[in-house]
Parts: sequence; C-alpha cells; structure tokens
Amino acid sequence: MHVQTFDTYDELSRAAADMVADQLRVKADPVLGLATGSTPEGMYTELRLMHGSGSLSFKNVITFNLDEYAGILPENPQSYHYYMNQNLFDHVDIPRDAINLPSADIDNALFGCQNYEDKIAELGGIDLQVLGLGLDGHIGFNEPGSAFDSRTRPVELDESTRQANARFFDNIDQVPTQAITMGIGTIMEARKILLLVNGEAKADILRRVLHGEITKQVPASVLQNHPDVTVLTDIKL
Ligand code: GLP
Repeated sequence: MHVQTFDTYDELSRAAADMVADQLRVKADPVLGLATGSTPEGMYTELRLMHGSGSLSFKNVITFNLDEYAGILPENPQSYHYYMNQNLFDHVDIPRDAINLPSADIDNALFGCQNYEDKIAELGGIDLQVLGLGLDGHIGFNEPGSAFDSRTRPVELDESTRQANARFFDNIDQVPTQAITMGIGTIMEARKILLLVNGEAKADILRRVLHGEITKQVPASVLQNHPDVTVLTDIKL
C-alpha cells in the first residue's frame, strides 16, 4: 500500500479530490465507487469547487456507493442517499440515472443485492473505489468477521459502529441495526482503491490495517493484498 501523510485534513481532502479528478479525466466513462461518513466530506467539498470553477465534469461518470442503512428512506436526512445528494450529486452535472446506491429495502435485499453486483459487472467494474475506515477496521459496513469473498448483502451492525455513528442521529435508538453493504470481495475487485483516514482516534486501527496480520477481525487489513491502494492520512504513524 502506498501511504501519503498530510499535515492537515484540508490537504488530505485536496489530494483525495485530485486523485478522483485525475480518474475522471483519464477515462471517457469512469466508474467511481463512493463512500460516506465524515472523512470524505472535505473531498466532496473540493470536488464541488472544481466543478463550480468549470474544471471538472461528472457528465460521463457512473457511481456506486458502498452502503446504505436498512429501512432509512432516501428522503431521510440520515440516509446515505441524502448525504450523497447534499455533499455531491445535487451540485454537479452527473445524470441521475448514473447514480447507484444499495437499496434500503431489506425485504427485497436478495434481488436488490444481486442486481447491484450485476450492474457493476455490466459496466466493466469499478475504476476507483473511495473508502473510509471504521474504528473497528470496517470498510463499507463489512464488520469484523466478514468473509474476504463476501458480496453485496444485508449485514448486522456492530454495537460499536452504532455508537460511533450515533452522532448523526438524535439518539442511539434511532441508529439502524442493519445495513446493506458492498462485500469485501466486491471492493477488492476495484482496479484502484483510495483509503482516507483522518484523526488520531484511528491511529491504532490504521497501524493494524497497514502493518498487522491480514485477518477477518480487521476487515481493512485485506487491502494489503490489493495491488493498487493509496492511503491518504493526517495521522503521523
Ligand atoms: C461508517 C460507514 C463507512 C465509513 C466509516 C467511517 O460506518 N459505513 O463507509 O467509511 O464508517 O466513518 P467516518 O468517516 O465518519 O469516521
């Protein structure tokens, strides 16, 4: 894995946006894998600025998001659909039908998840996948113990993840117990991966991801097996 360390979150965010922008410029019809959470917010701000200044178009981009909470409708401000609209899609020239997120409809998950996988494959796979890192080492919502060959599926959220994400809800009881996530196998098929890690609280888990044993107990450690991963961080290791 190629690690780049920055002094500030803003520098990290600019570098992340530059990498995404480069990907958009080198391919006529790029397929982007996108992440939510607080870490990529700065990157989305930079991408909006690039678009606003006329230097970047999303006209030919196709996106697939990593995950969504089960049972949270797209109009709900806590949904990842809503997050993506607010942070990026409502502000750029991406066609609505080029945007893909897992459906929150867990009752039809079997069909929905297969459909998601099929669509990624039909479009030739993901060129660049952006990832954040959970405090417990999760990527997407692939919690510790997830199989390395897992595909898009419904999952139970760990209590620690619900606690960590409770800050986006009024209280912990409102945080869903389930989600739909791309699998680790799905993520690993992306041609390039960009892992963003921000803040001292993630220093220990980042060390384990980069230098520890490759184990299902630290899902992101599997990235050591991927041939093209760039890690952007403001943590001095
Ligand atoms: C969340 C999301 C992940 C995200 C991670 C880190 O639970 N499902 O996709 O990358 O946790 O979030 P944050 O960037 O807010 O720390």
